[in-house]
Amino acid sequence: MQLVAAELVESREILPGQWLQAFHAPALTVGPRAGQFVHIRPGDFSGLILRRPFSFNTVDRASGQITIHYRAVGRGTDWFTRLRPGDRVDMLGPLGQPFEVDPRSRHLLLIAGGLGMAGVRMLADDALRAGREVTLLFGAASVTEVYPSSLLPDEVEYVVATDDGSLGHAGYVTDLVPAYEGWADQAFACGPVPMLAALARLVAGRSNRLGVASLGRKPGRGRGRAGSSSRAAEPGSPAARRKAFLQVSMEQNMGCAVGACLGCVVMDAQGAPQRVCREGPVFASTELDWEAGW
Ligand code: FES
Repeated sequence: MQLVAAELVESREILPGQWLQAFHAPALTVGPRAGQFVHIRPGDFSGLILRRPFSFNTVDRASGQITIHYRAVGRGTDWFTRLRPGDRVDMLGPLGQPFEVDPRSRHLLLIAGGLGMAGVRMLADDALRAGREVTLLFGAASVTEVYPSSLLPDEVEYVVATDDGSLGHAGYVTDLVPAYEGWADQAFACGPVPMLAALARLVAGRSNRLGVASLGRKPGRGRGRAGSSSRAAEPGSPAARRKAFLQVSMEQNMGCAVGACLGCVVMDAQGAPQRVCREGPVFASTELDWEAGW
């Protein structure tokens, strides 16, 4: 984790109320992983005290730039929309636990609802760079909120669902998942909690269904060296996420983002609180209690 001064390079409204901003922050382009986030402090004269968390949307080591993608929903994010090129903010990061991709996974299914795109966008770049195939399922209320395909790598298969049927599949993005589940070795999702809960329920019986990829999840397979597996796959560990078919990135409101305020807690399957900013934001879907209604 580092504290760095970042300079705004470019800022644009890519969808109504949704902004994409590029910052020059070379120190933050070395080391962050998909699923992690930065905590950014509004400027000295903003009148705002709390930092705001943003997922690493893209990271480009060659240019030394990172991008963030967010919706302007209050005074804090509205302040960020008024930054101009050359303005500086300080960023704390990378924070949180990243997505874990099994080295044997070739086909990655990414599922994003609305602004959840920001949570999985970097993973698409990383996966393509590693020679994997990526299908990205995206859901929005209507065509006016659909993430522009021009902002995605050409290699990504991009499939859209809209609630009102104005573009792509008419219905929820979760409706699309069964058609791709058999192809995917692993799935990674970010979006509203009801969407993530529906996905968790959808894939819960996966191991019992015929015709689905079962990479690394066959009995006796993918467990590493003898004697090392049970400890390495403890709930919450990177190994547990790596073994999971579905990993989810939670979008909770955050205060401190460093584990101190307990303002971001969700409950795990054992009824224990988990801090999204420290133990998350990425969890194996089987680790959380989806009936807890956070
Ligand atoms: S935001 Fe404070 S503990 Fe997570």
